[in-house]
Amino acid sequence: MADGPHKLYGSRFAKATSASVEGFNASLPIDRRLYEEDIAASIAHARMLGRRGIIPPDDARAIVNGLAQVHRELVAGGGPPADASWEDIHTLVEVRLRELVGSAGGRLHTARSRNDQVATDLRLWSRRALCDGIAAVLGLQAALLQRAEDDRGLILPGYTHLQRAQPVLLAHHWLAYVEMLSRDIGRLDDCYARVDVLPLGSGALAGAPYPLDRDFVAELLGFTRVSANSLDAVSDRDFVVEHLAALALIAVHLSRLAEELVVWSSAEFGFVEMDDAYATGSSIMPQKKNSDVAELVRGKSGRPVGALVALLVTLKGLPLAYNKDLQEDKEGYFRSADDSRDCLQLTAEMLATLRVRPERLRAAVSDPLLLATDLADHLTRLGVPFRQAHDTVGALVRDYQGRFADLSSEQLAVYSPRLAEGMPSLSPRASVRSRDVPGGTAPRQVAVALRRARRRHTADAVRLDARRRTLPSVQALAALPW
Ligand code: ARG
Repeated sequence: MADGPHKLYGSRFAKATSASVEGFNASLPIDRRLYEEDIAASIAHARMLGRRGIIPPDDARAIVNGLAQVHRELVAGGGPPADASWEDIHTLVEVRLRELVGSAGGRLHTARSRNDQVATDLRLWSRRALCDGIAAVLGLQAALLQRAEDDRGLILPGYTHLQRAQPVLLAHHWLAYVEMLSRDIGRLDDCYARVDVLPLGSGALAGAPYPLDRDFVAELLGFTRVSANSLDAVSDRDFVVEHLAALALIAVHLSRLAEELVVWSSAEFGFVEMDDAYATGSSIMPQKKNSDVAELVRGKSGRPVGALVALLVTLKGLPLAYNKDLQEDKEGYFRSADDSRDCLQLTAEMLATLRVRPERLRAAVSDPLLLATDLADHLTRLGVPFRQAHDTVGALVRDYQGRFADLSSEQLAVYSPRLAEGMPSLSPRASVRSRDVPGGTAPRQVAVALRRARRRHTADAVRLDARRRTLPSVQALAALPW
């Protein structure tokens, strides 16, 4: 360490690293948040080394106790420093360990490289983040399911091309987002299965010349399996790409919902009103109530998409195995996971406190044009080919717009003898009730869908709980019997 603290791995150098390189090279400001994972993985590694007699068991014990002490110190200090005082979190932890336990600490890095170490730490972090992400999605689903329950009787115009189309239940609309989010949970789940692989034991790139018990380390850390190829294990970041892709899609889903809340809050729609706690004012216009929270949820959707693309570009063209480029994998990833949790949480709160305005929904849904398809379907049920029925109703709308429902039988006869025989009684409620197919907006179907979504929600929560129990903790790993 003659060249100062930064040149920890530098006995082959004649010079200290340039000051300009120190900050550029260091990842501590970003990877400091991996300290729990780094220490947990190191404890598991030390236990295995001691058990296998690769290092003296007394040294392994000293290392584990020392690591637990480093952990306590870091927790007490609110985490590692955010400056570039050390190159990365792995270095900081090891340096402190060696200060605490002396030369025994120098045996921890036997059969290990920072390459398999960081890959392990990041996978441990991903496992927790995936669990937290699934929990946050479940939280938003719970808010949507509650809304679906509470708003069950309400009908609003459904839109295509943002033009009024056909009446739908508001509950059906909320449940559409429950479905999207359920697929998001599926994607996070899939990703978890591929994250759940232990890289430690891969060494720098080629494996390690010691009789390692990789399965034992995997078991301690709660990994289901160990990596099959050391070159791949130290350089694979597919799992981060996959997780980011899932987060990007969640952000896109949230952005769609946020957009609707913004539009529905406008005077033009007026379907909903944000709770005052989730809206903000204008610095100049005293009357304004702005949907800033929803707009920010919509606006932040660009960030995970950017992080995803940035990482793909970083990975493209990297030769095997580890390259320092990979250090760039974390910043956008961590930020995307944080953003995702915040956006899911705030959207859930916004929905839970949202005031729906039934009178505005009723006014909007009373537009008779929403029932034009129902009239065509009526003719079709009387035996008129649908295309012809569509033409007939289209002509009525062309000539009378929404007044087509009030025409005399003489007027109707011009368009269709079947209609002259009698107009059906059309209403928004009859319209939704008639769409009684699985997945349709009929109240009966929506009730079935709601029940099914609730069951799935409960099952997902139970599965998440079980998975969380496999996440390691430093305290538990340190306290295990020898
Ligand atoms: N800070 C590095 C990263 O995040 C840790 C691995 C460094 N390995 C190395 N051979 N320089 O990727």
